[in-house]
Amino acid sequence: MSPLFTHNAAMRDIFLSPNEKQLRQLVDLDNIDSILRKLFTIEEMREAGSFFTGQKLASKTVSAFRTPITFSSVVLDPTCGAGNLLIEASRKLGVEATLSATLRAWGSVLWGFDIHIHFIEATKLRLIIEALNRGVKQDCELEDAFRLLPNIKVQDALVVGKEKLETVTHVVMNPPFTIWTSPKENYWKDGKVNAAGIIFDKYLRILQEGCNISAVLPDVLRSGSRYQAFREFVSGSMIATAEVWGRFNNKTDVDVFLLSGLLESNIAEIQWYKPKINTSSIADFFDVRTGPLVAYRDPKEGTEYPYFYPKNCPQWEVISSVTETRKFLGKALKPPLVVIKRTSSPSDKVRASATFINLREPVAIENHMIVVKPKDGKINTCKRLIRTLQCQQTNDFLNERIRLRHLTVGVIKDIPYSEER
Ligand SMILES: C[S@@+](CC[C@H](N)C(=O)[O-])C[C@H]1O[C@@H](n2cnc3c(N)ncnc32)[C@H](O)[C@@H]1O
Repeated sequence: MSPLFTHNAAMRDIFLSPNEKQLRQLVDLDNIDSILRKLFTIEEMREAGSFFTGQKLASKTVSAFRTPITFSSVVLDPTCGAGNLLIEASRKLGVEATLSATLRAWGSVLWGFDIHIHFIEATKLRLIIEALNRGVKQDCELEDAFRLLPNIKVQDALVVGKEKLETVTHVVMNPPFTIWTSPKENYWKDGKVNAAGIIFDKYLRILQEGCNISAVLPDVLRSGSRYQAFREFVSGSMIATAEVWGRFNNKTDVDVFLLSGLLESNIAEIQWYKPKINTSSIADFFDVRTGPLVAYRDPKEGTEYPYFYPKNCPQWEVISSVTETRKFLGKALKPPLVVIKRTSSPSDKVRASATFINLREPVAIENHMIVVKPKDGKINTCKRLIRTLQCQQTNDFLNERIRLRHLTVGVIKDIPYSEER
């Protein structure tokens, strides 16, 4: 993160001869993302997980606290980056006449950790600039100003002890979304997991009951089938609401949600998505599974079957003659059936892109497709399913329920379905 050194040096110079326009730009929460993109490659940003919360999302995240921030609060961002969320939190606090008095008061409220020293330096510089921007009188040297923010420091968020956080009343975070190895002990998942889940989990374990938490988290934690146990753990530890936000920003193709509430062991389930209202769903009328054939793994041996995979399944078409075959030793499936492409994004016009396979013989289907087979074995039921998948209500359901770039069997099973369509 050393290229940030130059940006920090420029901020130091501005402290010596402040200029109103520059001061404003330096604490513009949308601006820092473009600065980082000029200083680092996208790979470096991904590796550090350094994607900073823009103004609109930062306002929403900080305003989601159930208890307001006051001078008696201690607000911690355990992965503070260049300080966007702490700057937004400071905007809930008043200022004194001078810079030193303001920072002394802010310094006991605002706490931030990051593993990169240049981010910590940037956070402090930007908070100092934010105070100047709010009209306080510059009455101290920069180094003195730095000393008035003692709780913003280089610290690995994962190795901090419980006793250090006893006074924390509010935690705000947008942790990195990189993939880390699971710490395993008491964990909801082995192997590789999203870092945001690991950091969020850690803070649920070490913060005091009653602490306010507001976090920007990747949608995979809300809707991914691998994270069911994470959701159960969070539900048992917090009274909270989960709110879909959508794409993080226009340059970062990942969807996020906001999880906010109070730390409290409880039995009330968090509503991760809108509850199913007493309607029937696809699972009541169809068997749903992923295609059994794994192209790179399954040998081309055994019986020759009609073969289907995403590229030879045009959207909404009915396939009634064989276009391609392949030998396969595994489970062939008997049509009529509908296949849905697993790759799917909220930016697609249609989330569940499907094809109706109406052949008389068993077929081999690749695992990038989800197979939906009517329990009554009827062609008309498949047609009704296609109409259901084409309608806007299904798109809306899927966009609320899963904002990942793929669909899962569980989500397809839950799509509302009526025999009347
Ligand atoms: C997604 S950025 C968020 C920054 C800031 N909270 C915001 O919303 O603008 C995540 C930050 O976490 C930091 N980070 C990564 N691993 C960390 C760890 N183990 N402890 C503390 N910070 C860490 C990265 O350096 C990066 O600055």
